[in-house]
Amino acid sequence: MRVAYITGVSRGLGEATARQFLLEGWTVVGLGRTHNLEHDQYNAVYLNLEHQEIPEIPIFPEATELVWINNAAIVGKIGYLGTEAQDLQSIYLTIQINLSAALALSHRIIQLYDGFKGLFTLINISSGAGRNAYPSWSAYCASKAGMDMFSRVLDIEWKTQGKHNFRVFSVAPGIIDTGMQTQIRQAKPEDFPLLERFQKYHEEGALETAEAVASKLIGFIRRRDDFSEVLADLRLV
Ligand SMILES: NC(=O)c1ccc[n+]([C@@H]2O[C@H](COP(=O)([O-])OP(=O)(O)OC[C@H]3O[C@@H](n4cnc5c(N)ncnc54)[C@H](OP(=O)(O)O)[C@@H]3O)[C@@H](O)[C@H]2O)c1
Repeated sequence: MRVAYITGVSRGLGEATARQFLLEGWTVVGLGRTHNLEHDQYNAVYLNLEHQEIPEIPIFPEATELVWINNAAIVGKIGYLGTEAQDLQSIYLTIQINLSAALALSHRIIQLYDGFKGLFTLINISSGAGRNAYPSWSAYCASKAGMDMFSRVLDIEWKTQGKHNFRVFSVAPGIIDTGMQTQIRQAKPEDFPLLERFQKYHEEGALETAEAVASKLIGFIRRRDDFSEVLADLRLV
């Protein structure tokens, strides 16, 4: 039995990935505020990542392979720090949802599967924004850079503990045609100097579909032992 846990499954990359895992016969546990999937092997866990409480997570001791994907994220308010375009709540929420919750959930799932002998792959969905500084995205960039670093730390911890069946990757997925990109294109030009670049990506058809990126992600997980680096970019694999 193979089990994939994915946060943020209502739309975008999370939903497409959950659907493809289900098609391939995996059991899927979706964790989020909104659930649209209906399938015998789909388990919905209500979770609002804005809050610190972690609900009960179903565990499958008979599983031979486990995947945990920290996918849910928000881009937050787009605008320079110290201007009206930003606000405190958005800054706190972006770090909470994108980074603090992902760390806390990872801690919990590793505890729950203590002693697991099968293949365990933890994927953090990062972004080019974690590796390059984009003006107006300070909290988002910081949250994704934080994910990259937490993945590198966890990698060392598992190697030190000799847990060679456990692998962690922080994966930049490329530019995907989802609600997040729509929100980015709706930023005000005065708040976002890169607006034209993102509008052009859309006009020129540079965005990939969530389904195509989900396929690449699942292919990456399948071939995980071909990759030695913790930081990955799906456009390059
Ligand atoms: N789209 C891109 O071009 C792009 C590029 C680089 C990286 N990424 C990364 O790829 C991942 C998926 O992005 P996407 O484009 O698919 O985004 P999306 O379409 O906006 O979907 C985001 C998902 O996160 C969930 N979510 C947001 N806030 C939540 C909360 N408080 N509690 C629980 N779930 C919450 C949403 O659920 P609700 O429906 O409940 O809000 C939704 O399912 C993210 O980590 C993003 O940073 C995306």
